[in-house]
Amino acid sequence: MTNPQSEEGRQQAAKDHLWMHFTRHSTYDTHQVPTIVRGDGVHIWDANGNKYIDGLAGLFVVQAGHGRTELAEAAAKQAAELAFFPLWSYAHPGAIDLAERVAGYAPGDLNRVFFTTGGGEAVETAWKLAKQFFKMTGKPTKHKVISRAIAYHGTPQGALSITGLPGMKAPFEPLVPSTFRVPNTNFYRAAETSYLGPDDEYAFGQWAANRIAEAIEFEGPDTVAAVFLEPVQNSGGCFPPPAGYFERVREICDEYDVLLVSDEVICAFGRLGHMFAAERYGYQPDIITCAKGLTSGYSPLGAMIATDRLFEPFSKGDASFAHGYTFGGHPVSTAVAMANLDIFEREQLNEHVLATEDDFRATLNKLNDLPIVGDVRGDGYFYGIELVKDKATKTTFDDAESERLLRGFLSGALFEAGLYCRADDRGDPVVQLAPPLVADQAVFDQMESILRDVLTRAWDQL
Ligand SMILES: Cc1ncc(COP(=O)(O)O)c(C=O)c1O
Repeated sequence: MTNPQSEEGRQQAAKDHLWMHFTRHSTYDTHQVPTIVRGDGVHIWDANGNKYIDGLAGLFVVQAGHGRTELAEAAAKQAAELAFFPLWSYAHPGAIDLAERVAGYAPGDLNRVFFTTGGGEAVETAWKLAKQFFKMTGKPTKHKVISRAIAYHGTPQGALSITGLPGMKAPFEPLVPSTFRVPNTNFYRAAETSYLGPDDEYAFGQWAANRIAEAIEFEGPDTVAAVFLEPVQNSGGCFPPPAGYFERVREICDEYDVLLVSDEVICAFGRLGHMFAAERYGYQPDIITCAKGLTSGYSPLGAMIATDRLFEPFSKGDASFAHGYTFGGHPVSTAVAMANLDIFEREQLNEHVLATEDDFRATLNKLNDLPIVGDVRGDGYFYGIELVKDKATKTTFDDAESERLLRGFLSGALFEAGLYCRADDRGDPVVQLAPPLVADQAVFDQMESILRDVLTRAWDQL
């Protein structure tokens, strides 16, 4: 065994034993495994002492920023008092208090909180609830799910089935049957869809929403249980909803008695300046799924939040939801979530995002003068920068170019230049940005300056 205390030994141990997620391990035949050892505010440090801006809040997670000792202390205090107890017919104060608090933040009568350990489990839970709810209420054939092209909803087999990324699903087929895709709201590429209406975002949004009605009709309304949508779709590079989109989706869901699931695993807890993003875009979901920012990542936790209507059949007689996770609603995680939400309120993190989001947008928009930048889009502290080969024609990169540009150059160059973020080509090539919610103008400027330098060099390499 190598000595894991020395950095060299730890590098070798990583290469020999650690199986990293969504990772091409062969990259590390010739490169060091980037090992992050410390964080403070919007910054992280690697094992070699290099400092970076955390431009992705870890993975859309660390809303309150790194190095919050009060969150660490909340975890330690809870572990000392009661390290573990499940929510299987028993409760603990942290889960009760957090359920009440989260229900209080959630819009309308989303009053019932089912805890998981993460986002994929929350999505899984939402689909299972939708199926059982309709079985219990006289519509037993309603079970199918509609979701959007290129959207990511997690890796458990149900959540992966709802995911709209064929390449990510292919190795694991056959997945859970009965999910169907509709177009997303990528207005930048509207002309490449079957949309034939005016060059008008509202009209495009209505068209995109109406594709959901069409899919429900195609499948048969008696068979469709739910539609899963992110408020702002992440995968593909931040597609905010056109005005009127969710209003029309809500009408369609009401007309066909289909549940609207707002997958807010990324968008909740301040990413868009509200506890829940449905509030920002003015719609009422039947279910919200969330995770990540609920604890700012200081301990894992997710949740599925359901309306009174959905819980009602489970409140009577011998009914129960035969579903759960040993670590769902873990006492340490619920204690951390409570302390994290205290920070949100005390430091007014949502208000800070709303007050500074225009500055963030304006700073990133400066990059529009670069020939490689096709589109800068997003809301709140959540942005995607789409890269193109030709701005005028919006021509994108072919697979080989994308491989060279994103994997071969951009990810590494941005990191070396001091910005941790993500270059993603699950849809068209984009750079994704989602800093901790404590970021300010100085951080926006540094991000812009690093991106300007690296994207200019990327263009020169093409
Ligand atoms: C919208 C959405 N849903 C679900 C998930 C899955 O969450 P987790 O990785 O916590 O299982 C993610 C993860 O990024 C996500 O972005």
